[in-house]
Amino acid sequence: MLAWFSEHGRDLPWRRTRDPYAILVSEVMLQQTQVERVVPRYLEWLERWPTVESLAAAPPADVIRAWQGLGYNRRGLNLHRAAQRIAEDGWPEDLRELPGVGPYTAAAVGNFALGRDVLPVDTNVNRVQERTQHRFTPAAGQALMDLGATVCLARIPRCGECPLASECPSRGRRYEAQHKQSPFEGSFRQRRAQTLRLVAEAKRPLSELDRKAVESLARDGLVRVQPCGEFVTLP
Ligand code: ADE
Repeated sequence: MLAWFSEHGRDLPWRRTRDPYAILVSEVMLQQTQVERVVPRYLEWLERWPTVESLAAAPPADVIRAWQGLGYNRRGLNLHRAAQRIAEDGWPEDLRELPGVGPYTAAAVGNFALGRDVLPVDTNVNRVQERTQHRFTPAAGQALMDLGATVCLARIPRCGECPLASECPSRGRRYEAQHKQSPFEGSFRQRRAQTLRLVAEAKRPLSELDRKAVESLARDGLVRVQPCGEFVTLP
């Protein structure tokens, strides 16, 4: 599989660095956003904020604006909070202490940046392990991600291209369509995103906005309702 990876692995910008900050940025962006959409945003982000310290010093409003379009805006705010914490106290031994960093992201940064002996298991890696009935070592992390994303596909795997096929008990199987993410159109998540977009453009009177969405955004710290209660701004 490692030979397959050196020939067919994707050349992704976060694989050209071992800077933990850059890798944290990439992994937080990749949590719910597709690789092709992340690549240009990752490059812009690192040009604008090349270090933890530069991101920590940015106003939250700039960070929220820069996150627009990546979805799940709390991730951007959490990344900013994580940078502030790291700039202040250094990197914690247990990366899960950072806001927005769960077991997967901690393992990914641990493996790809810090060379730790942990395998980051995302949905792709999990699928390959289940189908092959094999437990891979941490050295296989990036290769497994690409195998899962480009060959061992969820519904119709391309077993003819797979370096593991000869030993795979699931070789040739087809799978039912998975339940998709619930539709964004018409969802509360969409109302929140629209409301945040309006506030990111300009300070807005509360009376012009979706009140429930504002309340929810304010609880997350993504917007602020001014003390007089009439206007909504970014923090
Ligand atoms: N998805 C999440 N992390 C990734 C990575 N490092 N490379 C490719 N896809 C990913």
